[in-house]
Amino acid sequence: MRRGIWNRLFLASSFGLIAFLIFLIGQETLPEWRGVQAEYYRRLAQVTQDPSKARTPLKVQQIHLPEFRRTDRCVTCHVGIDNPKMKDQPQPFAAHPDFSDPRFLAEHPFNEIGCTICHQGQGSATTKKHAHGPVSHWEEPLLSGELTVGACTTCHQNVQGLRGAERLVQAMALFEEKGCIGCHTLHGKGMLVGPELAETWGKSVDQFDFRYIRGEKTVTHWVMDHFRDPQRTVPGYPALGVPESAMPNYELTEEEIRLLTALVLSFHSEEEKEERPVPARYKVPYIPQPAETTFASPVERGRHVFQKYGCAACHGLEGRGGIRNKNMDVGEEVPALLYVSDGYSKDELKAIIREGRYPAKADSAGPSPALWMPSWKEKISEEELDALVEYLVSLKSVS
Ligand code: HEC
Ligand code: HEC
Ligand code: HEC
Ligand code: HEC
Ligand code: HEC
Repeated sequence: MRRGIWNRLFLASSFGLIAFLIFLIGQETLPEWRGVQAEYYRRLAQVTQDPSKARTPLKVQQIHLPEFRRTDRCVTCHVGIDNPKMKDQPQPFAAHPDFSDPRFLAEHPFNEIGCTICHQGQGSATTKKHAHGPVSHWEEPLLSGELTVGACTTCHQNVQGLRGAERLVQAMALFEEKGCIGCHTLHGKGMLVGPELAETWGKSVDQFDFRYIRGEKTVTHWVMDHFRDPQRTVPGYPALGVPESAMPNYELTEEEIRLLTALVLSFHSEEEKEERPVPARYKVPYIPQPAETTFASPVERGRHVFQKYGCAACHGLEGRGGIRNKNMDVGEEVPALLYVSDGYSKDELKAIIREGRYPAKADSAGPSPALWMPSWKEKISEEELDALVEYLVSLKSVS
């Protein structure tokens, strides 16, 4: 009796093992992409009413791009990417969206430039997990949806007026309005209160602290969540006296967060450009934009200078204040500039802007305030300074 039980157990476990082996072999010979392709051809047969399409042999498909030093196999699953008949299919069977204009696809032939130049992801992979990422040792997970517009600058040197890049232009306007350049440099221009923004995208995940980040461990998610709340994501090391992030929390909408993230990933450092070269014939050269040179009044010109140098970064929109500066003497906020003409002559204002100054601490034992008034002496011209001061003086009458 006992032996019978053992025999049955042995038999059952053998069947289990065999089933498991068959499963493993199936995994080997029936990779994920085969299932996807088979389903694609079934759908194609239906759409074209040509049953023979369903019998199309399955194979790995790829776009070989030696000039770009890439091979993109995305089309192994995204087989219908250039078939307009598949326009209304679900992903991954659908044709590529024509992105506001059917000309887009003709201007960017996929068989010449592939997919990862715009979408990132791991081109050589044939499983969704590895192709889309994030997986270890692959730091460029897929960009989809509106984040993809950040890729236009890889080839287009300027996007102002570029059809399809409207959202990037919208993000640039936000960048100017907030005065990001008053705290950050971009290609060396601006102030180094925060990091150089052309380098952010090229950093590896190890260069970011993910302890306070919600979402996947990717640079994209770090940047997005940081915009959501700089102080939550970069709380500093209070025990060591390292302060929390000095970047303002702009209470951005999710839409604005995606726009600004696309903008940050549209910035490329020189190093990054060398690592990922784009052949010259795919680069669309920079066409200098006519600079705004005529202003209705010195005050108007000054408003432009205020924006150009990002004074709003620390003094708020139109100098209205509201930017936190922990442990700074008066109210822990960078002063508003609305009434500076009451306290200073024009020459004194010029001197402050030229020389800069460090604020006093509220609590002398506490940490130094993270924001100080930088010196603009090396950057600003005398004419600009004159106009800027006219603008500052005008703020009192409008407030
Ligand atoms: C093994 C099959 C497979 C491969 C290879 C693959 N994908 Fe996908 N892809 C899918 C599937 C399935 C979906 C449908 C949505 C989902 O399941 O995430 C999809 C969806 C997408 C989407 C839409 C995502 C969204 O959030 O709406 C994009 C963009 C995309 N893929 C791009 C790529 C790119 C670029 C590559 C190459 C680097 C690639 N895919 C390689 C299977 C694949
Ligand atoms: C020139 C840049 C560019 C190239 C090259 C490109 N795409 Fe796209 N792709 C985009 C843009 C931009 C969008 C639309 C983003 C949006 O929703 O506004 C998009 C959308 C998509 C979508 C729809 C889902 C989504 O993210 O909105 C899929 C799927 C997709 N692309 C796959 C591919 C595949 C596969 C290839 C290669 C065969 C490819 N793309 C090549 C720029 C590109
Ligand atoms: C791989 C490089 C590359 C990428 C990435 C790329 N483009 Fe292009 N694009 C080109 C080239 C090359 C042309 C053709 C230029 C010409 O013929 O003068 C072009 C032409 C265009 C045109 C028509 C000509 C014009 O200047 O108006 C538009 C619009 C356009 N691209 C929009 C976009 C948008 C939007 C994106 C981002 C989603 C993008 N491109 C990404 C290389 C690229
Ligand atoms: C990185 C932050 C930062 C930026 C950018 C910045 N400021 Fe300041 N600014 C400060 C701080 C902090 C003070 C207060 C210094 C103090 O308490 O002595 C200040 C003080 C001033 C004052 C004196 C105000 C007063 O009431 O005493 C003026 C005027 C001024 N800034 C103008 C400007 C202009 C114009 C720009 C753009 C060119 C600018 N600031 C950009 C941080 C900044
Ligand atoms: C008042 C100064 C200030 C302003 C204004 C400011 N930032 Fe920052 N930003 C910082 C500081 C300081 C850091 C570094 C600490 C941290 O990561 O929060 C930072 C970090 C960042 C980072 C992470 C970069 C990296 O490589 O680690 C990004 C991205 C960023 N800022 C983008 C922006 C954008 C876009 C704007 C305008 C909408 C902006 N910042 C406005 C001070 C500022």
